[in-house]
Amino acid sequence: MQPVIILNFKNYRQVAGERGILLATEAVELANKTNTQIFIAPQLIDTSLFSAKGLKVFAQHADSVSNERSTGKVTLSNLKQAGVVGTLVNHSEYPQSAQDVREIVEGAARLGIKTCVCTPDLDTLSILEGLEPDFVAYEPPELIGGNISVSKARPEILTRFFGLLDNFSPSSIKLCGAGIKTSEDVKAAKLLGAQGVLISSGVVLAETPSSALLSVIDGFF
Ligand code: G3P
Repeated sequence: MQPVIILNFKNYRQVAGERGILLATEAVELANKTNTQIFIAPQLIDTSLFSAKGLKVFAQHADSVSNERSTGKVTLSNLKQAGVVGTLVNHSEYPQSAQDVREIVEGAARLGIKTCVCTPDLDTLSILEGLEPDFVAYEPPELIGGNISVSKARPEILTRFFGLLDNFSPSSIKLCGAGIKTSEDVKAAKLLGAQGVLISSGVVLAETPSSALLSVIDGFF
């Protein structure tokens, strides 16, 4: 299968608005040339701006509400309207309850929105039983944004995580994230069972983001 990259822009000012469009467009071009599947998670406020450019957009977050009297919440139906193809769920920077995770994954599936459930530890996997989100990412919060990748710092946990995932959610595509910056980090993750990565600062904050992304992509091949 094609390697998967979810490029999370978070709220980094370097990729706000049109500046982010430039990197996203370059990223998609690189992915197309290298037979890699890439999804962009722009800043929530930029979601429609990015999807209107034909980019495959993941929302950074969705709320498990359908009531239209929900000030400030982000509903799945509005995200569908905004043209997203998927959404992150339970990112460690915006953690959600097990009930919310369940409701969002099930609600998104009904709307044809893909889900990537982020899990900070092995215990969280149990909430996925029977849910089958499209992607599940192991992302230890303490390594996010750092210089040691999850694949280098937690090889044994990553192996156990992917093994458990085969039991709890066998159809989910296996991702990992946190500190991934180089092709070596990706090669190590792939050897441990990863089918893709969730990445942010290693690309968005790089001196030349497109070169950093190409290095990451090289790690899959
Ligand atoms: O969503 C992925 C993100 O949390 C990983 O961050 O900066 O360690 O690649 P980073």
